Amino acid sequence: MDDRAPAKDSAVGDAAGHAAAARAVWSAGDYATVGDWFADASRSVLDGVDLDGRTVLDVATGTGAVAIEAARRGASVTGVDITPELLAVARQRATVAEVEVTFVEGSFTDLSEHRGFDLVTSSFGVMLAAEPEFVARELAAAARRGGGVVAVVAWAPGGAFGSPPPAVVDLLGDQPPVDLTRWAVPESTAEFFASTTAEITEHRRNTIDIPFPSVDHIVTELAARCGPWMALLARLDDTGQAGLARDLLAQHFEAFAEPTAGGVTLQVGYAVTQLTTA
Ligand SMILES: C[S@@+](CC[C@H](N)C(=O)[O-])C[C@H]1O[C@@H](n2cnc3c(N)ncnc32)[C@H](O)[C@@H]1O
Repeated sequence: MDDRAPAKDSAVGDAAGHAAAARAVWSAGDYATVGDWFADASRSVLDGVDLDGRTVLDVATGTGAVAIEAARRGASVTGVDITPELLAVARQRATVAEVEVTFVEGSFTDLSEHRGFDLVTSSFGVMLAAEPEFVARELAAAARRGGGVVAVVAWAPGGAFGSPPPAVVDLLGDQPPVDLTRWAVPESTAEFFASTTAEITEHRRNTIDIPFPSVDHIVTELAARCGPWMALLARLDDTGQAGLARDLLAQHFEAFAEPTAGGVTLQVGYAVTQLTTA
């Protein structure tokens, strides 16, 4: 096992094509608002970590919630993301927060320019990877050897946001979406890192409560602001099934919604997993 030299993987395939597709999805809508709904869950990747004087690489940083918090707590931080539009928001937010973060465009399929970090984080980021073993090798290689930490956050299995409900997946036919819960399961995460020296040293589950005026608003907001959900509904629109999918999604979210004075609170499960290199 060797964290230093991840093999270039033919499974990554048409990197330019994948990058263009990812950018198109994530620059659509209004991720800055969507990410703010669960920014506390994103930032929880840093809970209990001493950051002062440390180096941090935040992978798939988006609008910078984790990167900016790490810098605020004294770390020297680089944030990498594939979507320039989100990096522009991240830079503005870092300026407002009066912290310095180096934000650079790049993919989690190639972190070769980023090595030797004390902490490598990815909140709701690498869970999107189509080739998780390859990306796990990149994360481990970016962390310093002998005690570098990789920490990932992903949606919990069986929760509100991990994957569309099975009835919606059925509508999608032979092109199911990536399961966003794999990195929240210790067994599958350990398998992703099996060819590296990184081993799981901590795993914790939690929920975040997100307020909405009603369950219907959850669907409406996701359909208007969240790029991946917009793309999924657009695919189903082509076959006249978007209305049915929206109804099925409302039923799905109903199971996780608690009534409140102002509407509902959506309870969304997620997990934080930390690994440490040898
Ligand atoms: C759900 S957002 C998470 C953003 C941020 N970490 C947070 O917690 O708010 C997913 C992010 O992954 C980024 N992304 C998608 N594919 C990527 C890739 N191949 N390499 C790097 N970033 C990628 C998107 O641009 C988006 O910013």
